[in-house]
Amino acid sequence: MTRQPEREQNQITVIGAGFMGTVIATIYARHGYDVVLHDSNAQALASYGARAAPIAESLVTAGVAVANILERVRTADDLADAVAGSFMVHEVAQEDLGVKQALFAQLDSLCGPEVVLATNTSSFLLTSLCEGVNHRGRVVGIHYITPAHIIKAVEIIHADFTPPALIEWAQNFLTTIDHVGVVCRESPGFLVNRVQMAMLAEIHRMVDEGLATAADIDAAVRLSIGPRLALWGPLLTEDLVVHKKTALAVMAYMEEKTGSEANAPTATLKNLVADGKAGAISGEGWYQWSDDYDGIVRERDQQLADALEWFEQRDGMAAIGLRNH
Ligand SMILES: NC(=O)c1ccc[n+]([C@@H]2O[C@H](COP(=O)([O-])OP(=O)(O)OC[C@H]3O[C@@H](n4cnc5c(N)ncnc54)[C@H](O)[C@@H]3O)[C@@H](O)[C@H]2O)c1
Repeated sequence: MTRQPEREQNQITVIGAGFMGTVIATIYARHGYDVVLHDSNAQALASYGARAAPIAESLVTAGVAVANILERVRTADDLADAVAGSFMVHEVAQEDLGVKQALFAQLDSLCGPEVVLATNTSSFLLTSLCEGVNHRGRVVGIHYITPAHIIKAVEIIHADFTPPALIEWAQNFLTTIDHVGVVCRESPGFLVNRVQMAMLAEIHRMVDEGLATAADIDAAVRLSIGPRLALWGPLLTEDLVVHKKTALAVMAYMEEKTGSEANAPTATLKNLVADGKAGAISGEGWYQWSDDYDGIVRERDQQLADALEWFEQRDGMAAIGLRNH
């Protein structure tokens, strides 16, 4: 499969005009695609324009008005009519496996095998969604993260049966709408939720155990690991700030004291330590680094100081609308 999102193939169908479908249809329209929006609920289709206007407003740039965006979205209450002529159909119905399986079986018979069938599912494996699908090689997860018109990363979820060319196609497609595809093999939680929920579950336990207040946890993360993660992501950060043998020692101690395998150092981490791949300080960790460690540290500290200054000046916690800040 070598299809590219060429502009002569300009039409995308979005199935489901609910919370996410409204945003996704509007993003596609903002980037010049003709969108057909379908929903089994007539009221959802009728109210699309009113619900989409604030989203379109935030996507307005010089030369592109809200009306220009919304007029690119046509609503269709018949599924066969809605998918006719589209190069991609994006399924955004609610998170109900039966509903999605039935839809995919219908779409598989309505759409030629060259049409990409995408799903915004937050949790279901493609393998499960495709139980009634004959042409599984055109099915891919394109999973947006709320607020999808602002957040750049989009998960591209693939199964064992997904051709690499379709993954590449999805990455190219996402660049045309100014988003960034991150690729992940199907598994519960995919990528972002697996990271996010692991962190939240741990924090919820800390609150339950009375270890710290919500405000202290948020302040600690916001002014320490938060900016580091935003700048560099978790693994590059680890290379920059933690010697691998220290990470290993801390994890091993936590595993011993908590008895939880979730804290156990992995075989890969142990191998990095055994091979002397400590991170930037040794020239290699998860990444390869230049020999100029002093220069790396200077640049690291400058980037972090700038980010922390921005976070402190912005005082997002106060601005977000808390009553008791
Ligand atoms: N809400 C979020 O923040 C979020 C974030 C990421 C992903 N998602 C995923 O996006 C998908 C949609 O979630 P949502 O919050 O927009 O749900 P929603 O309930 O707001 O909207 C779903 C829409 O699909 C329509 N629908 C249901 N069955 C249909 C069918 N057979 N044919 C046509 N339309 C049908 C419903 O009428 C409804 O308007 C889910 O898979 C969800 O897990 C949601």
